[in-house]
Amino acid sequence: MIRVFAPATSANLNVGFDSLGVALSPLTTAAPPQALFQALSPSIALETAGLGDEVRIEAAEADSFPVTGPYAAEIRGPNIVTRALLRVRELSGRAGNASIELHKGMPVGSGLGSSAASVVAAVMACDEFYGNPLGPDGRIALMGELEAELSGGLHWDNILPCALGGLRLGSSRLPVPAGWVWLVAYPGIRLETKAMRSVLPASVSLREAVERAGGLGLFVDALHRGDGLAAAALMTDHIVEPRRSPMIPGFGSLKEALRGAGALASGISGSGPTVFAVFDDADAAEAGLAAAGAWAAGVAEAANGSAAGAFARLCRVDEAGARVVEPASKER
Ligand code: HSE
Repeated sequence: MIRVFAPATSANLNVGFDSLGVALSPLTTAAPPQALFQALSPSIALETAGLGDEVRIEAAEADSFPVTGPYAAEIRGPNIVTRALLRVRELSGRAGNASIELHKGMPVGSGLGSSAASVVAAVMACDEFYGNPLGPDGRIALMGELEAELSGGLHWDNILPCALGGLRLGSSRLPVPAGWVWLVAYPGIRLETKAMRSVLPASVSLREAVERAGGLGLFVDALHRGDGLAAAALMTDHIVEPRRSPMIPGFGSLKEALRGAGALASGISGSGPTVFAVFDDADAAEAGLAAAGAWAAGVAEAANGSAAGAFARLCRVDEAGARVVEPASKER
């Protein structure tokens, strides 16, 4: 059996709508805050719990497409894994039936790149299974094609970091300040990317376009200079956030609370409802985690009558991206 894991991603990051995204791995450590930050030294391997999807493929007499995992119930009808298998066969001319299981490890419509994780894991697993007929470029092209089918338009800001790892502007990897810790908080409600795009303006003013281009350029420059404070100060958004945030209950109060806790930046992850934040201080990150956890649980309670589906996690950047995992992997 071949198993491929693809991580959660956070797209846009305020400053790079449709172009910037980061792959994330939640920290499992229950260590006190200062230990957490010592552990963020790049020289120390951290234990992380995979937040993402896994696809498992093996030869079978007939094709089958089981869906398992904590979020299996959210997948309705034929899933994208079926399409991935058929397209890899079409493109490569390979044959051979397979059982291909989607282990859905993250919520759909969460703003954490759920569809991208399924697509990336599926394409990579199928390509591995047939002996790599697509190759690296062919894989990425097919991932883009399938993501466009799923979300109604092609934006690469989840696919590329999910497949290749790291913080990416397009396919370029950007350096991440060593002390940054990322927070993601998912409030247990579903928002469809298509609907969240429909609230956006078809065009923006020249002044806004110039401001956006300048902000992204300066952000990339600040990262390359290792100036995390300057980079984080540029992670703002006056175009998308005001239009989407009304669909996220309590967004404004949470943002205030995160700022009060000491977050360097915060905003909507992808098209929401997940909220992200960046910290460079352990106590601030812990305070932000507490505030975001309470917010996520409260929104889920109000919407679903239970906080069970909500979560808040501190993360590090997942520099590896999608990968073949051993059967003994803890990434479940
Ligand atoms: N950049 C896309 C959007 C990402 O915000 O619509 C969707 O996850």
